[in-house]
Amino acid sequence: MQIAQTIAELQTFQANSEIGLVMTMGALHAGHRSLIARARRSHPFVVVSIFVNPKQFAPHEDLSRYPRPLERDLALCEQEGVDLVFVPTVAELYPPDFGTVVVPPPALTETLCGLSRPGHFTGVATVVTKVIGLVRPERAYFGQKDAQQVAVLRRVITDLSLRCQLVICPIVRDQDGLALSSRNVYLSEQERKNALQLPCALEEAQTLFRKGITDAGTLLSAASSCLSDVEPEYLALVDPDTLQPLKKITQAGLLAVVARVGTTRLIDNLVLGQTQTHPPVIAIDGPAGAGKSTVARKLARHLSFLYLDTGAMYRAVTWKALQLGIDLTDGEALSALTRNLQIRLAPGYQKAFATRVWVDGEEITRAVRERSVSASVSAVSAHLGVRTELVSQQRALGCEGGVIMDGRDIGTHVFPDAALKIYLTASVQIRAERRLEDLKAQNLPLPEMAELEADIQERDWKDSTREHAPLRKASDAIEVITDGRSIEETLKVLIDLYHEKVRNA
Ligand code: PAJ
Repeated sequence: MQIAQTIAELQTFQANSEIGLVMTMGALHAGHRSLIARARRSHPFVVVSIFVNPKQFAPHEDLSRYPRPLERDLALCEQEGVDLVFVPTVAELYPPDFGTVVVPPPALTETLCGLSRPGHFTGVATVVTKVIGLVRPERAYFGQKDAQQVAVLRRVITDLSLRCQLVICPIVRDQDGLALSSRNVYLSEQERKNALQLPCALEEAQTLFRKGITDAGTLLSAASSCLSDVEPEYLALVDPDTLQPLKKITQAGLLAVVARVGTTRLIDNLVLGQTQTHPPVIAIDGPAGAGKSTVARKLARHLSFLYLDTGAMYRAVTWKALQLGIDLTDGEALSALTRNLQIRLAPGYQKAFATRVWVDGEEITRAVRERSVSASVSAVSAHLGVRTELVSQQRALGCEGGVIMDGRDIGTHVFPDAALKIYLTASVQIRAERRLEDLKAQNLPLPEMAELEADIQERDWKDSTREHAPLRKASDAIEVITDGRSIEETLKVLIDLYHEKVRNA
């Protein structure tokens, strides 16, 4: 992991690839970690910035006492597989002649938190625009916890045509329901208990909303009745994009609350009327040579999903087994090893390293491509126990959502509940032609077409009659035939299917 303190360092360290950016003010917790993990899943290069931005603090606010546990933060970033942490000083970002500010529209800032924090969103918009300009990420990840910040930044990014997509991640809460915040460390034990009235108030309104009550007055008074031991600054029901007050929820309403608990200002919110769009799982099955993995990888990048590269997972297990000197015929030992292995995957930067791989926090992207691993991976994957363990890890990753996986039995066995199942196929002749093109491109000896076609037919037969994980089309899978389609055309078909069947369903 690289650490850049200056803009010059940032620019030398930064890889010229699709970057995912997570901006923070440090004192990192599981909320920040969820943003980092989300970015890690879909970007070959992840940058985290840690900067307590003085421009977003009013003079009476907690700038000087804001927690700054830098060592711990860096350790957390390292653990999460961050590539580069940008930790500039105030003088680095705001030299003495700095004079430009980004002022978002007053309709978005002179309301809710903006009322008690004048200038706050100008400070946020300025630093975010500056850091996006420096890092030039493909996507930047922000938390729904700061719902007004999200509305403001959406506007700023659109209005200034910043070429960066925002990805908004759900609020991470403690077990008791309190939204995680760097400011929670200020709370005494009693204050922590009182602070739970914020999530309780939101839940109270949600319960009524679920019973069909959509009137703002009723929802707000129910929520407000829960806030007896805290000092509410505001409790409001507004449109999530325009932040204008709602009288009634017709589509979605942002219920936002801010309260002081002792001297600590806490914020929380809930969107009513928006079905929690848990990112789905997409399963792509089909015969070998239909272009599944290429298309699946591209679709994952397009949707900002994790491509679950099974091959890379088997390689990770094999690498670890070789490291530990485990006998590769000992299925039990290999299963136990797999069970306890923490594998993390991310898209890679080059074709040769299309997937980045970490095992127990250590990056082994290059190591898993070594010949010793290639030579042993089939011995390891032959053990049913290893496969069972990996399937359970894949399912656990699937539970977090936003996963694409390809294979032979993904829609039938690994993810039978996948939101979208594709059966990607192509005629034997087309697959043989593509194989020939591949061999040509690699300057390898070229067999006869008939020979290639016979090989493919035999492979199809073997794959569909295997004892374990046979190739089958799930009854609810959509067949996509790639004959006559380029990779980009096939990708477009899948993106359209995703929108039709999942997003807009
Ligand atoms: P900070 O409060 O450190 O938060 C950094 C990011 O983490 C924000 O996008 C915030 O919404 C997100 N976050 C914080 N707590 C969260 C939780 N419990 N669940 C999910 N996400 C959470 O927000 C800022 O810093 C600053 O304003 C910044 C954008 C960095 C500009 O200075």
